[in-house]
Amino acid sequence: MAITTCVFDAYGTIFDVNAAAQAAANEPDHAALADVWPAIARDWRAKQLEYSWLRAVADRHCDFWQVTQDGLDWALEANGIASDATRTRLLELYWELSAYPEAPAVLETLKSRGMNTAILSNGSPKMLNAAVTSAGIDRLLDDTLSVEDVGIFKPSDRVYDMVGDRFGGTKDSVLFVSSNGWDAAGAAGYGFRTVWVNRTGAPVDRLYARPHHVVSDLTAIPELI
Ligand code: LAC
Repeated sequence: MAITTCVFDAYGTIFDVNAAAQAAANEPDHAALADVWPAIARDWRAKQLEYSWLRAVADRHCDFWQVTQDGLDWALEANGIASDATRTRLLELYWELSAYPEAPAVLETLKSRGMNTAILSNGSPKMLNAAVTSAGIDRLLDDTLSVEDVGIFKPSDRVYDMVGDRFGGTKDSVLFVSSNGWDAAGAAGYGFRTVWVNRTGAPVDRLYARPHHVVSDLTAIPELI
């Protein structure tokens, strides 16, 4: 089946989730982050995701902004940062994460070929709208789909169902792109064609399905289609 719809995960795939901690560490007011920002970025992301999975299996949904704050609080305490001002600044920066440099051109190429393009993300509508607007990629996307419409986080099938509900077509006419190995596996298990953007050279996740393609950044996506 020809691919007609290309759907992207947001955080880590289009938007650089390490950008907030890195940017704050460069600001004089938050110099205490200078040595620990990589650990904070790693712990923040790990806890944010862990809390999303646990809330999904426990049927205790909250929005992604809540798990983003909870994950950061854990990461700051684990790394010995107690400043409220630093916490506030890191959260503020999360609303305007930079896009990976290759993302706009890739979306542009897909649009010029008549492809449907969208984001499908755990992010809340407000978070996603802010990030998409700040990165200047809103005009390159047909839609930004948030799990808030179904009230559960990835990798629930209810989340991946949102793509067919919005664009129609068969599951194998969708190419789903994620830098999160577990999300690419979840989407492959659901029936999408999938690309795992393995930016860090990590081993493949041992889950119930494997991604169809593995790339190191977004550049090769148009060729794959
Ligand atoms: C998202 C997270 C999983 O954007 O990165 O859905």
